Amino acid sequence: MQLTMIGTGYVGLVTGTCFAEFGHHVTCVDKDKSKIEQLCKGAIPIYEPGLDTLVAKNVREGRLQFTSNLEEAVAEAEAIFLAVGTPTSRRGDGYADLTYIYQASKEIAPHLKGYTVIIDKSTVPTGTASQVERIIKENNPTADFDVASNPEFLREGAAIADFMRPDRVVIGVETERAEETLRSIYQPLFLQETPIVKTDIKTAELTKYAANAFLAAKISFINEIALLCDTIGADVIALAKGIGMDGRIGSKFLHPGPGYGGSCFPKDTLALMRIAQEHGQNLRIVEATVEVNAAQKAKMVKKIRDAVGGSEAGKTIAVLGLTFKPETDDMRESSAVTILPALLEKGAKIKAHDPFGMEEAKKVMPPGIIYTENAYEACTDADAVILMTEWNQYRALDLNRLAGLMRNHVFIDLRNVYTPKTVKAAGFQYIGVGRS
Ligand code: UGA
Repeated sequence: MQLTMIGTGYVGLVTGTCFAEFGHHVTCVDKDKSKIEQLCKGAIPIYEPGLDTLVAKNVREGRLQFTSNLEEAVAEAEAIFLAVGTPTSRRGDGYADLTYIYQASKEIAPHLKGYTVIIDKSTVPTGTASQVERIIKENNPTADFDVASNPEFLREGAAIADFMRPDRVVIGVETERAEETLRSIYQPLFLQETPIVKTDIKTAELTKYAANAFLAAKISFINEIALLCDTIGADVIALAKGIGMDGRIGSKFLHPGPGYGGSCFPKDTLALMRIAQEHGQNLRIVEATVEVNAAQKAKMVKKIRDAVGGSEAGKTIAVLGLTFKPETDDMRESSAVTILPALLEKGAKIKAHDPFGMEEAKKVMPPGIIYTENAYEACTDADAVILMTEWNQYRALDLNRLAGLMRNHVFIDLRNVYTPKTVKAAGFQYIGVGRS
């Protein structure tokens, strides 16, 4: 099939590339000419494992192309995916900013040729699809089209695997023609019997928010339980295993940490709260999830302060990992962005390392952080080390070497990567999240 992606951000680029890998012909459009030029030269603007190889392969085989010529890309498309950004509104009220969606709808409208399905891939509030429909009709009254919703459930760092082997595909469609188009697009997944969940459009839109809010709630739940474990000396890892093996609960997303971050959970939980409030309802569990997440970051600052003897002033603290999770260079809403400035403010000296995130970190972090070549350099002469993001390369550190390099031996494992016993054996004081 001939598909067009509007927007070559994270979602558009990954989705477009994977559709090309399915065998479809995909044109990715972006207004940002320099980004398109880069993509045409094979430069990938984000770090996502495996994406560069997959882009190169599909470009080489003639199924994937990049352009800023919207008119041509729209005219030839059987389906157009809107994959533009829906950031939190600049009004600061938590609403999703739909400017880019509405603008894209307006711009594609005059160029539609033949029957086309316009599919919202971006995470958008319920009712957005009907606005898209209205805008297209206003700008092209004779256009033959349907709108549909097809939310994405990709995790950064694992997006290609998530796309190729999804737990389910949700399609929000209200005409047979649109359903047929969506089913044809996802036909390559039928062989592996991926369930296709067909809903009306509003339900599909809301399903995405509900999925992210539920996952975020699971994390906030285990983070609160971890704090209780800290207080009473219980072990949250064993506890999570004990509850997670109950199939009704499930073991995933029960890892305590410094609070969830990224471009999705923080934004989508806020947006869902606002959607509910607009309809006269309060989603109290989602509200609590957001509050607990903010509190978790503050509690991590206190944990670090206590670990270094009650005051960070004059202490050198090594920080391993800055991104909101491993396998990405994304710093958006990373807990490090809240925790590190709080430590700096109180007079800590910070030496940080991240395998892929340091360039992005430099753009958002306050000045004064010393960026190092590797974990050992970060730890040299440090009073404490914080394992902030669980990159693979931090999972098997030479702890004896680390101990030899550090001034004081405090290991703050905010991702519970190490067993307390192993770290203590190397002469460290171990502080985890919900276990010690
Ligand atoms: C999330 C969802 O997992 C995807 O299904 C969804 O498609 C995506 O948002 C989106 O809406 O686009 P992502 O933000 O890439 O994906 O990352 P996650 O792996 O979900 O992690 C989010 C945050 O939660 C990270 O900061 C991570 O460290 C934290 N987390 C995750 C925990 O603290 N504990 C856990 O057990 C799991």
